[in-house]
Amino acid sequence: MPPNLLELPPLALYLHFPWCVRKCPYCDFNSHPMPGKMPEGAYIQALLADLESALPYLSGRKPISLFLGGGTPSLFSPAAIGRLLEAIHARLPWQEGAEITMEANPGTLAAANFAALRSVGINRLSLGIQSFNATHLKILERIHTPEEACRAAELAGRHFKRFNLDLMYGLPGQTQELALADVETALSFAPTHLSCYQLTLEPETRFGACPPQDMPEDDLSADMQEAIESRLAKAGFEHYETSAFARPGQQCQHNLNYWQFGDYLGIGAGAHSKFSLEGRIFRQVRWPQPEDYLQKAVIGQAIQEENEVEKAELPLEFMMNTLRLNQGFPRSLFAARTGLPLAVVEPALQQAVSEGWLVMNDQHIEPTRRGRRFLNHVLERWLPNVAEMTD
Ligand SMILES: C[S@@+](CC[C@H](N)C(=O)[O-])C[C@H]1O[C@@H](n2cnc3c(N)ncnc32)[C@H](O)[C@@H]1O
Ligand code: SF4
Repeated sequence: MPPNLLELPPLALYLHFPWCVRKCPYCDFNSHPMPGKMPEGAYIQALLADLESALPYLSGRKPISLFLGGGTPSLFSPAAIGRLLEAIHARLPWQEGAEITMEANPGTLAAANFAALRSVGINRLSLGIQSFNATHLKILERIHTPEEACRAAELAGRHFKRFNLDLMYGLPGQTQELALADVETALSFAPTHLSCYQLTLEPETRFGACPPQDMPEDDLSADMQEAIESRLAKAGFEHYETSAFARPGQQCQHNLNYWQFGDYLGIGAGAHSKFSLEGRIFRQVRWPQPEDYLQKAVIGQAIQEENEVEKAELPLEFMMNTLRLNQGFPRSLFAARTGLPLAVVEPALQQAVSEGWLVMNDQHIEPTRRGRRFLNHVLERWLPNVAEMTD
């Protein structure tokens, strides 16, 4: 029997831009060095064809948010982004006041682009700063300097009411003081949101194959994380997800929807989707190589893989997302998003509570600090039992 979804979850729209000036050594996102001439027009045409093929699955829903991510969407001109947004709106109008975020790389933005992006409808900017420190930017092989990072952050604040800065910590040779210095510089631009990611050595990357020297010990990285959290709390930021910090009311609506196990349509090379249809939940992945995607999307074949999420997988998928949120989730959300009664996970939840990973009451379920830190371990341990119960 398919799960019983009483109401469709909110829908978000993600657009992937697969090119970057060059590939950073730590990055395992679907990003490719850009070709000599950016195929702006052809890519927009492919995105629109992809969207049109997906419309029948969306049941007339209006997206609550749009997110232009990458890769480096800021390699596209503001005029092209404007044309794209207009054409999307004509096919899939979004909700009034929807958050429309674009990721931008400080090394790819001319000063005039900030106002231009705002005027074509982008209302939230997310800048990939990573660090303001010249040595660390070099180690990460970023294309921007500390001066360019500062200039971009300053211009973002001038033109956008809502903007995020991405920082990374746990960098080679980084001390706690240097990590905090980056946070201090970021705060000086008064962003509404900060994302602070610990550098991860992903297996399929150059750093994964050949780790940089002088990586901080785990204890030092954990100390950096704590120091960053307490500095940001003092500055009035709410720590609402593993790596995300926001001023009150400024959480990223688009990412919140992922973490609340909402629906999303991802279009563009390698983009992922999850959506509910007629009481069932599906996942899709688009062709990841830009050349393949360009060819296939225009003939209505953008999707490389599609499958239905098995009922037995839903509890784990739901928990992997919602328990990343420091506030956890209201009990009623489990049934609303998975179509399964919370009773199927109740014994596992009780066990996790007794072991100190979760706290819960009759309304709400929330990870403890320890539970958040060891989320994957916690889920691996107790959720296999849940899969058996939903069979
Ligand atoms: C999808 S990337 C796109 C942002 C944009 N292309 C840029 O790099 O400026 C989003 C963010 O993920 C973070 N990130 C990427 N790879 C990471 C890794 N291996 N470890 C930690 N953070 C990472 C970076 O902070 C980056 O800004
Ligand atoms: S610019 Fe961003 S998406 Fe591109 S390779 Fe670097 S980290 Fe990855």
